[in-house]
Amino acid sequence: MSFSTPALSGMALAVLLSMAPHAPLRAEAVTAPPVALSCAGCHGPQGAGEGSVPRIAGYDRQAFVQTWSAFRANERPATIMNRIARGFTDAEVAQMADYFASVR
Ligand code: HEC
Repeated sequence: MSFSTPALSGMALAVLLSMAPHAPLRAEAVTAPPVALSCAGCHGPQGAGEGSVPRIAGYDRQAFVQTWSAFRANERPATIMNRIARGFTDAEVAQMADYFASVR
């Protein structure tokens, strides 16, 4: 197989663009910090919640930080978040707390 590099990256860009969430544009729309993008796969675009995965949009900032440390410490029942919580630094958690508290 041989790929030409420019064509390949063009393809990757097209795929990325077609996967962008089709959320309505609002004047006060907040841009997700890169660290929060991995959450969308389960929690839905902007943390709206999907299926059995809870909504985290509008989560109180302080409650978010507390919930996060409880997951990290295995003090809160979790199927997956206890493991995910350990993969982020306090600074990243603070960024995500700000972001999810600000989206509705
Ligand atoms: C693999 C799927 C998955 C991913 C990825 C994921 N979550 Fe979760 N999240 C869950 C599930 C499922 C729960 C319910 C608790 C559990 O079972 O672990 C949850 C619960 C939570 C809660 C608690 C909600 C409540 O009701 O109090 C918060 C906050 C949260 N997730 C934040 C995040 C953030 C921020 C990210 C991105 C770093 C993220 N999650 C990534 C699946 C996921």
